[in-house]
Amino acid sequence: MLKHVWLLPLVAGLCSVPARAQSPAKPIPEIVHKGGRYALLVDSEPFLILGAQCHNSSAWPAMLPKVWPAIDALHANTLEIPVYWEQFEPEPGRYDTSVVDLILRQAREHRARLVLLWFATWKNGSSHYIPLWAKDQPDKFPLIVGKNGASVDSPSPHSAASLQADETAFAALMRHLRQVDPERTVIMVQVENEAGSWGSVRDYSPAAEKLFAGAVPPELLKALGVVTPAGADWATAFGPNADEYFHAWSVAHYIGQVAAAGKREYPLPMYANAALRDPLTPGPAGTYESGGPTDNVLGIWKVAAPALDVLSPDIYQSDSVRYRRALALYARPDNPLFVPETGGGAGYPRLCFAALGLGAIGWSPFGLDYTSYSTEPQGAPRMSEAALGPIALNYRMLEPLMREAALLNFEGKLQALAEEPGQARQMLDFGSWKAVVTFGAGGRNNSTKGNATPIGRCLVAQLGEDEFLVTAAYAKVDFTPANGLKRGFRRVEEGAYEDGVFKPIRIWNGDETDYGLSFYSAPQLVRVVLSTY
Ligand code: DGJ
Repeated sequence: MLKHVWLLPLVAGLCSVPARAQSPAKPIPEIVHKGGRYALLVDSEPFLILGAQCHNSSAWPAMLPKVWPAIDALHANTLEIPVYWEQFEPEPGRYDTSVVDLILRQAREHRARLVLLWFATWKNGSSHYIPLWAKDQPDKFPLIVGKNGASVDSPSPHSAASLQADETAFAALMRHLRQVDPERTVIMVQVENEAGSWGSVRDYSPAAEKLFAGAVPPELLKALGVVTPAGADWATAFGPNADEYFHAWSVAHYIGQVAAAGKREYPLPMYANAALRDPLTPGPAGTYESGGPTDNVLGIWKVAAPALDVLSPDIYQSDSVRYRRALALYARPDNPLFVPETGGGAGYPRLCFAALGLGAIGWSPFGLDYTSYSTEPQGAPRMSEAALGPIALNYRMLEPLMREAALLNFEGKLQALAEEPGQARQMLDFGSWKAVVTFGAGGRNNSTKGNATPIGRCLVAQLGEDEFLVTAAYAKVDFTPANGLKRGFRRVEEGAYEDGVFKPIRIWNGDETDYGLSFYSAPQLVRVVLSTY
């Protein structure tokens, strides 16, 4: 599903779609990869999602006026927003596109892109978003059965009728998008939401039991490198992991088919998001949501759902060791790193730079609107422009180089990091130069204690042998040459990219360079040419 790209410039050979007469269609967004790195191409160029996800019940026309002001205040370039199956298909086969059309129109007015979240068979492991007419047919839309024979509040992945209904509705949504969005306002689609089950590791219904006692699909055994007698059942092939692997396969296979049905209509990039296991001490299956794309079953999802381009972590652990581990588990040669949900509270903003440092194509905190709901302690207690400030700082820092950062990351020339508690100094190694980042220091102050709370962040990208782009907050950045000589600043310009050209607004010199390059709470981007003496 992912295109392998060898050469730059990135001109995607993309098909065009039927467009409205007056506006020629732009190329369809796609994810490309090269040497284990990824880029999301939007209008044929790498694009970095500086995202924000609204609350679950914010995608109603009456709520949108409380969403957009937050998106604007954040300087987010992408809104992640649900499409509810219950709203989209109020009667079987009748599709109400009015809400999605309104969201598209308003996104264009706000010059924002969209990631649409298809809340359908699964939402956080349950099926609360299926239409009422589906809720009234429990035989066609069954729940799973726990080991004790009791129903569990989670949809069965083994119902052909519910799969067909979901596929059909999702295909209708994608067909509609293809017709009404030649501008490519929608750049990616999430298929379901945190799929899997809480309360049972798998389905123990008679239908599921029959499948569980049947042969494991040979393509799965091959992909996982499991050698087992031909026709082996799940328990024989996977022993103690069998229940969980069976559920992961079943859920992934279902969602892969929904995604494929949508892609046949309109092949936008698609992903599934995971409610994570603890990335350091996961515990046994059943203590976390089972069946979703958790880190231990990514290989199963890749085989079962090839129509999905990305498997994504929803990261709600603000301790940076866990956070960075979760990022690393999903930044794989076979998987682009995209964080579609993360906390919106104080501990999170700097961690955007940890994601960028691992090549992320996007990052998006959850629950950022003014609809008066709060996911405290994950988010800020009450959303206000002040509460959004630390995330807005990220996006104001990254906005002036958004396209360039995505391209430089794709080329492996960008490094970024977040301040770690108790670690005032960190190093970024570019071979002939090292960037030395000191947090909590500025101007003549060379404190080695770090910031009082770790809020520092830094990005450095190499443009040429001695030329770098730097942006940072609450940090001082300097460079050391590997050849043992001393560093000189030949030229330091503050500016921004406009249409791919760096436009300086001033030269930094004197106090601004004599003690290294100091960044405080203002978004500043500098282009640095270094020398040695
Ligand atoms: C993760 C889910 O994916 C979101 O839809 C939302 O329910 C958040 N959790 C709330 O914290």
